[in-house]
Amino acid sequence: MSPSSKIIAVLCVFVESVFGAAYPFEQPTKQECIDMMPSYFQARPQQTTNRPFKIKVTDNIYQQTAVKVTIERLDNFPIKGLILQARRAQCDVANQKEPVGKFYLAGEKILQLFNCSRKDDTVVNRAWIPIERNLEVHWNSNNIDFGRVYFIATIVVKDDIYWTDVTSEIIRHLSDTDASAGEVCPASTSRLGSSSNRNNAAAEYYRFVVFMIMDTRQARKRRWTPSPEKRTASSGYPKRRKKSLQL
Ligand SMILES: *[C@@H]1O[C@H](CO)[C@@H](O)[C@H](O)[C@H]1NC(C)=O
Repeated sequence: MSPSSKIIAVLCVFVESVFGAAYPFEQPTKQECIDMMPSYFQARPQQTTNRPFKIKVTDNIYQQTAVKVTIERLDNFPIKGLILQARRAQCDVANQKEPVGKFYLAGEKILQLFNCSRKDDTVVNRAWIPIERNLEVHWNSNNIDFGRVYFIATIVVKDDIYWTDVTSEIIRHLSDTDASAGEVCPASTSRLGSSSNRNNAAAEYYRFVVFMIMDTRQARKRRWTPSPEKRTASSGYPKRRKKSLQL
């Protein structure tokens, strides 16, 4: 194996183990359930304030009966990747990033229900298939009063092009007498700050792998033997280092 093919092989193993799933939100990870960001995209979400999608609700009051939730395409972008949830419209509550209620698909075959926290609390696009129509699902609170609630989605239109925090208006439970209007809380903010950390971690790992390969080659060249201090301080070290390079 040449050093460059070694690097590629090591990176492939790394990429696979870190990035996992085949396409965004196929089986949302824990992190994707929380920040609704496609975890293995390096690209940032589109920054336009006017998102090309809108979430509409039939009623701004919820009770026993289901609320019809429609995702409208405003600019003819396809919906290729999707994660949709209902959340509490109060940003300072601990469980704000936990979805509430339960969805029903009512014949929508490409979409799939997913359990992020509880049964069927999340809707995803089942396949990496571009959907070129509006989507309609139903949501039910089972008459539980979650206070003010809104719907929120991340929509991927093609590779690396996606909009986060596509939100609906705020709805309230029939018995909710709270005077506050409620607030929409972005899902993605927690990760936006740390996405550069993620890139740094990848770069760090890459440097580490390159270092290991270069170091081993040089050690071989000069018939390297550990100094006595090193031998006693970390006797297993050279061995382990060799093992990590076996692919
Ligand atoms: C979701 O939860 C229900 C009930 O706990 C369970 O029967 C179902 O298999 C779960 N679905 C997935 C995809 O894990």
